[in-house]
Amino acid sequence: MREERRRGRSTGRRPDGRPARFRWWIGAALTAVCTAAGIAIPSPAQADGELRDLADARGFEIGAALGVDHLANDSRFADLAAAEFNAATAENSMKWDAVQPSRGQFDWSGADDFMAFARANDQAVRGHTLVWHSQLPSWVSNGGFGAGELRGVMEDHIDAVAGRYAGQVAYWDVVNEMFNEDGSWRQSVFYDTLGESYVADALRMAAEADPNAELYLNDYNIDGINAKSDAYYDLARSLLNQGVPLDGIGMQAHLINGQIPSDMQRNIQRFADLGLDVAITELDIRIQMPASQSELEQQAQGYRTVMDACMAVDRCIGVTVWGIVDQYSWVPDVFDGYGAPLLFNDSYQPKPAYYAVQEALGGDGDDGGGGDDGDDGPGGPCEVDYSVQNEWNSGFTGQVSFTHNGSSALDGWELQWTFPSGQQVTSGWSGEWSQSGSTVTVSNASWNAAVQSGGSVSVGFNASHNGGNTAPTAFTLNGQSCAVS
Ligand code: G3I
Repeated sequence: MREERRRGRSTGRRPDGRPARFRWWIGAALTAVCTAAGIAIPSPAQADGELRDLADARGFEIGAALGVDHLANDSRFADLAAAEFNAATAENSMKWDAVQPSRGQFDWSGADDFMAFARANDQAVRGHTLVWHSQLPSWVSNGGFGAGELRGVMEDHIDAVAGRYAGQVAYWDVVNEMFNEDGSWRQSVFYDTLGESYVADALRMAAEADPNAELYLNDYNIDGINAKSDAYYDLARSLLNQGVPLDGIGMQAHLINGQIPSDMQRNIQRFADLGLDVAITELDIRIQMPASQSELEQQAQGYRTVMDACMAVDRCIGVTVWGIVDQYSWVPDVFDGYGAPLLFNDSYQPKPAYYAVQEALGGDGDDGGGGDDGDDGPGGPCEVDYSVQNEWNSGFTGQVSFTHNGSSALDGWELQWTFPSGQQVTSGWSGEWSQSGSTVTVSNASWNAAVQSGGSVSVGFNASHNGGNTAPTAFTLNGQSCAVS
């Protein structure tokens, strides 16, 4: 049965990109649907995304979790989503509470909008998720259903959701997060009422509803070998022995900077050896804020390690990052003091992590700043001159000039530093200014985005202070450390 459903694929890799069923043309009708929904559809022809092009060339999937509100309201987010990623997961809009908030009452608005965006941009869809203890409406979790009725509720839900998008979803996260850290079963209405068999039931129901989708179990903290991933390993083996339609394991990979499991590749390989595909489904690497330049570089190394671990195993089909720009990540809401976990910063500029992923996919990892290439000028990739022009008892006027030493011209830049003694920018010129805590970010104005090799830019600002006015000593330009003159 699984071999039949897997037709056209002998390994996790696709020799020439995704199968035909995921290559849709942008039909006029579809475009109209998206336009009506207010979702921007950037033309793939305009996109110059390097990650998806590199991934396509290797038959690999590089995906992102997409919030439909951001797709609708933030064209820069939608542009990056379309340009950089050949796969997509709905961050929230396919979850139970979104699609069936009340029994038998379905709301397809968010899920349909997401699917339309993915179709329009030729992205392989990971459906997320059919059965999960979280984001589950109370009519299910507190419904007091007996086993027969709950199984019926689960079947109706799976039928409706997987059935609606049958043939359009490449992978379903059928059951999400069903083990505790010690490998014991997580208590949930499904486990408590139905016992462990709910997982096999859900997989069979999903196979019925969409015979073409590849069916996954998905969880966090199963990226390395540990008690929890052992539980998945044992369960997967047992399900396969029973002939249950299971195609893959999703390792979420919500990771902490500097703590990437060293046995990730071995862990992926052991699931592949069972005959399963593996996907890294929700990658992010969180940093204790504020993130220093060296922490951003360490994070880039972490992304590289995860990419390499997946790409080294033939059945590891792709890596999905859980969001695109740092400012929309779920991380700061849940992990106090942590943030900056993604590939693009709050100014939508690619971070060192982006270039690490690009390089892992076979690109040159070149950020246009020349920082890694050994082709910088004598001062490294950039030099900064910081000066106080005028000072009074509670404030001052400052000027920052940078020289770009990389060999390629810049088309857009972002300069960043941290104030050491509580200074606060009150106004700025010759750039777009923002300050978060003590970290100041200046990005280019439209008229000074282009900077030739050897070119300089000066920006100025007014700031307040509380008596101390120590000058910052470390600056980055597009994520690379600058020499300070
Ligand atoms: O929709 C409501 C909105 O009406 C309300 O005004 C707002 C106020 O807080 O909340 C909105 O709901 C939020 C929802 O995201 C949609 O934005 C919830 O509070 C918030 O808890 C929810 O967080 C999501 C989280 O799953 C819930 O568990 C995150 O966005 C989403 O990134 C995260 O994703 C999960 C994966 O599905 C599974 N693996 C872990 C991963 C990270 O937690």
